[in-house]
Amino acid sequence: MANPIAPIPGLKPRHMDSAKLYAHRHHMISAFARKGVIAPGGAIAEVGVGIGDFSLFLIDTLKPTSFAGCDLFTLHEHATMWGQPTTEMFDNLDHLSYYERKLKDRPDVVLRLEQGAQPRRPGDLPTCLVRHDLHRRRPCL
Ligand SMILES: C[S@@+](CC[C@H](N)C(=O)[O-])C[C@H]1O[C@@H](n2cnc3c(N)ncnc32)[C@H](O)[C@@H]1O
Repeated sequence: MANPIAPIPGLKPRHMDSAKLYAHRHHMISAFARKGVIAPGGAIAEVGVGIGDFSLFLIDTLKPTSFAGCDLFTLHEHATMWGQPTTEMFDNLDHLSYYERKLKDRPDVVLRLEQGAQPRRPGDLPTCLVRHDLHRRRPCL
């Protein structure tokens, strides 16, 4: 069977010219916002959203107009995660419902949820299996 993952290009010396090391990913994202590397009002996708805390951080820091949260949304099928019962972790909801509830208080961003296996490239996002929009959101396509 062919490898479903596209080849990942290696780093070249020129990529290191202005490289910067951050102690924490939050510092890196905050620097992107501060320096205008990622301007407010854009479209952002997070592939593998987990329990949604980083999604909230991305939305609050980068202030995108639209945000796509892509995940298998099946973590509730495990009995425990990181030593905690998933019923407790997800407040007796399934993974997707929990994530939806967590992000519902971000009225200024159009949320698009993509359920399915990770796309090979960002352009592949529309091939995710299920898509649906939260209340008051416009259609995804
Ligand atoms: C450790 S969590 C990451 C959470 C989040 N990005 C963060 O930094 O807090 C990994 C997530 O990736 C999701 N995941 C794993 N394989 C995936 C795949 N093939 N496609 C989409 N999501 C996937 C899992 O369901 C899980 O929610």
